[in-house]
Amino acid sequence: MVDKVVSFLALGVVLGLAQAKLQCSGSFEKISAGEWVNRANPGWNLGNTLDALPTEGSWGNVANFSTFDDLIHGGFRGLRLPISWADHFVTGAPTYEVNATWLQRVEDVVDAALERGLYTIVNAHHESWFDLVDAGYNYTEIEQQFYSLWYQIGTQLGCKSSLLAFEPINEPSANTAEQIAELNKIEAIFIQALADSGGYNADRVVTLLGPGEGLDIPGNLVVPVNITNPYAFQFHYYSPYDFIFQAWGKTIWGSDSDKAAVDSDLAEIRNNYTDVPLVLGEWDANPSCERAARWKYIDHLMRSARQYNITTFMWDAGSDLLNRTAHTWTDPVAHAIIINGAAGTNNSLADSTEDGDAVTQWSSAYIWHRIGTQVTDNTNTYLLNGNLLESISGPHGVLVPGRDYIIDGANVTYKASFLENYFSNSTTDSPGEKAVLTLKFSHGAFLYANLIAWDTPVLATTNISAASVASNDLYIPISYKGLSQVAAVQATLVNGTYLFDSWTQWLGPLQKGRATSGSQWNYDTSSMTILNSAVQAVVQAGVDANFTVEFFPRLGNAGPNAVNVTITV
Ligand SMILES: *[C@@H]1O[C@H](CO)[C@@H](O)[C@H](O)[C@H]1NC(C)=O
Ligand SMILES: *[C@@H]1O[C@H](CO)[C@@H](O)[C@H](O)[C@H]1NC(C)=O
Ligand SMILES: *[C@@H]1O[C@H](CO)[C@@H](O)[C@H](O)[C@H]1NC(C)=O
Ligand SMILES: *[C@@H]1O[C@H](CO)[C@@H](O)[C@H](O)[C@H]1NC(C)=O
Ligand SMILES: *[C@@H]1O[C@H](CO)[C@@H](O)[C@H](O)[C@H]1NC(C)=O
Ligand SMILES: *[C@@H]1O[C@H](CO)[C@@H](O)[C@H](O)[C@H]1NC(C)=O
Ligand SMILES: *[C@@H]1O[C@H](CO)[C@@H](O)[C@H](O)[C@H]1NC(C)=O
Ligand SMILES: *[C@@H]1O[C@H](CO)[C@@H](O)[C@H](O)[C@H]1NC(C)=O
Ligand SMILES: *[C@@H]1O[C@H](CO)[C@@H](O)[C@H](O)[C@H]1NC(C)=O
Ligand SMILES: *[C@@H]1O[C@H](CO)[C@@H](O)[C@H](O)[C@H]1NC(C)=O
Ligand SMILES: *[C@@H]1O[C@H](CO)[C@@H](O)[C@H](O)[C@H]1NC(C)=O
Ligand SMILES: *[C@@H]1O[C@H](CO)[C@@H](O)[C@H](O)[C@H]1NC(C)=O
Repeated sequence: MVDKVVSFLALGVVLGLAQAKLQCSGSFEKISAGEWVNRANPGWNLGNTLDALPTEGSWGNVANFSTFDDLIHGGFRGLRLPISWADHFVTGAPTYEVNATWLQRVEDVVDAALERGLYTIVNAHHESWFDLVDAGYNYTEIEQQFYSLWYQIGTQLGCKSSLLAFEPINEPSANTAEQIAELNKIEAIFIQALADSGGYNADRVVTLLGPGEGLDIPGNLVVPVNITNPYAFQFHYYSPYDFIFQAWGKTIWGSDSDKAAVDSDLAEIRNNYTDVPLVLGEWDANPSCERAARWKYIDHLMRSARQYNITTFMWDAGSDLLNRTAHTWTDPVAHAIIINGAAGTNNSLADSTEDGDAVTQWSSAYIWHRIGTQVTDNTNTYLLNGNLLESISGPHGVLVPGRDYIIDGANVTYKASFLENYFSNSTTDSPGEKAVLTLKFSHGAFLYANLIAWDTPVLATTNISAASVASNDLYIPISYKGLSQVAAVQATLVNGTYLFDSWTQWLGPLQKGRATSGSQWNYDTSSMTILNSAVQAVVQAGVDANFTVEFFPRLGNAGPNAVNVTITV
């Protein structure tokens, strides 16, 4: 594994820092990286909080110690604390002193996490000065600043217990052999700075990483020679990209080949490192994903990670999993799937469309009723995974099997007579969520089935000239009539050509010509936005375009749950 000796300057001496080593009065229970990693599972990220730029609170989240109680009570054992230091340096070269108030704030948050027994990772997260890729950056200066930063973090936190671990730098870009060699040097400097700072830092668990904190550690990471720290490897995983980030209309996930792709990624890193503990430091399936597909993804990711003995830390940007202000799980089923998955307990799941060539998408996470239609029996399919369905309850108590629903293997047919408590065939019925049913199984997570009455949403703008949008984003208030979520957006020129990514013509019917969330459009619970760049793309094409906005359940671009916004040139 160690195939190259990394040499580095005696930086502490150069910078005049390595004189006084921190002395601790307590004691330190040494633990191996393997034990640390085992005990930290499952873990969670306090995202967009201490890592916000320029400082905590800038992205809407302030660390509140009660969050750590929520995590412990909820079954989490690991915490990754992403921390940005870039805007907290109070001097430049050569000392690069960090604001003492900020170091103290970090220490207070760390203390609160450790007191509650959370296995905690501290890192350096968004560091604009740390750039190994762009020409013009001076490696010597980066090395000095990096050493100084970790020396100061080491000095501030060096006497903390062995529950505290360090990660040198979040997702560092490094592409060329020279840049990758520099990243290896940086990781050796990190180890040196920790050793020089004293305290218990030479015995503390660290997570080393490869370029971009990606999977391709093999051949790229050189473990620093003379490392005394117990170490694990850390990598991040957001794959498949299109599903995780709502790109190209990909709302379907869960086929055998989808699962095999995750398995083979995790197998590859594990098979290369049979003897190094592995930390999956960030993963998430965006809450915008179709719900049953997201549950399946989360379950499979946790299960595959467990199979390959990998500890997971879910990313949470503020309320992806935990609603920090309400102290509730944003999606309690997702939470239960994670905790049971980490423990190896089989979860039952809501089935949903898995065929990428399907023309519509169904999902057993919901019971749909289109307003103005007859209320009928509704069959949902579940993936029991060896469990038995024990009960279904709703707002009026436990449902009566045989009367309210019929079980046939993995199929549950909800009787029209039961659904008529919530839905009617009246055309004037109000849309939206009518009730939430909870399904309990003999083992593992419970599931929800939300009863949703839906109709075609109403968009405030359906025809507009590009000229009147000018240089603004096109902001469109939406009166949702069901789920307050945009599923996908297709952009087609009137001559039939797709406005973006013409290669998507080779994808399935629900993905052809679909644009990408964040790059071309956005939505929230009361509106959507077509970004100016997308409007300008229409101007560029010189022909009118239809943006087909699709909602759940997805019934195709010509179906009753899609609305066209025509942009004229
Ligand atoms: C590793 O330790 C040995 C023995 O102390 C020393 O000779 C060598 O220079 C060290 N290597 C590095 C890269 O620090
Ligand atoms: C998982 O890895 C840890 C070290 O990270 C090791 O102690 C443990 O035995 C492994 N478990 C299995 C089932 O391989
Ligand atoms: C932290 O959370 C508690 C409990 O919800 C709340 O009472 C308190 O105001 C919060 N503190 C901060 C600083 O947000
Ligand atoms: C350190 O940070 C605190 C809190 O943001 C600020 O009030 C103080 O001015 C900073 N100190 C220096 C030297 O910049
Ligand atoms: C890089 O930074 C170091 C330390 O500040 C300095 O001595 C050196 O001249 C710089 N190199 C270049 C090419 O600017
Ligand atoms: C191990 O890593 C190498 C790259 O160094 C890669 O080519 C190989 O496929 C990996 N092996 C396994 C079993 O994953
Ligand atoms: C979190 O909880 C607060 C208070 O109950 C609520 O206003 C907010 O909408 C919730 N956020 C999410 C994303 O559910
Ligand atoms: C379960 O439901 C699915 C979809 O409605 C159907 O294809 C399948 O035949 C049903 N199975 C049974 C045993 O009824
Ligand atoms: C709606 O349901 C009521 C009661 O079940 C029935 O009498 C009526 O004919 C239905 N109307 C339509 C339009 O289906
Ligand atoms: C664009 O959308 C409008 C409104 O749905 C529709 O009438 C028109 O036929 C569409 N244009 C094309 C070329 O399909
Ligand atoms: C449609 O218009 C665009 C933009 O003018 C052009 O690039 C494309 O080739 C046209 N497609 C067809 C089928 O004519
Ligand atoms: C929207 O426009 C597309 C062409 O851009 C068309 O195929 C589709 O039928 C239209 N859908 C609706 C609901 O009008």
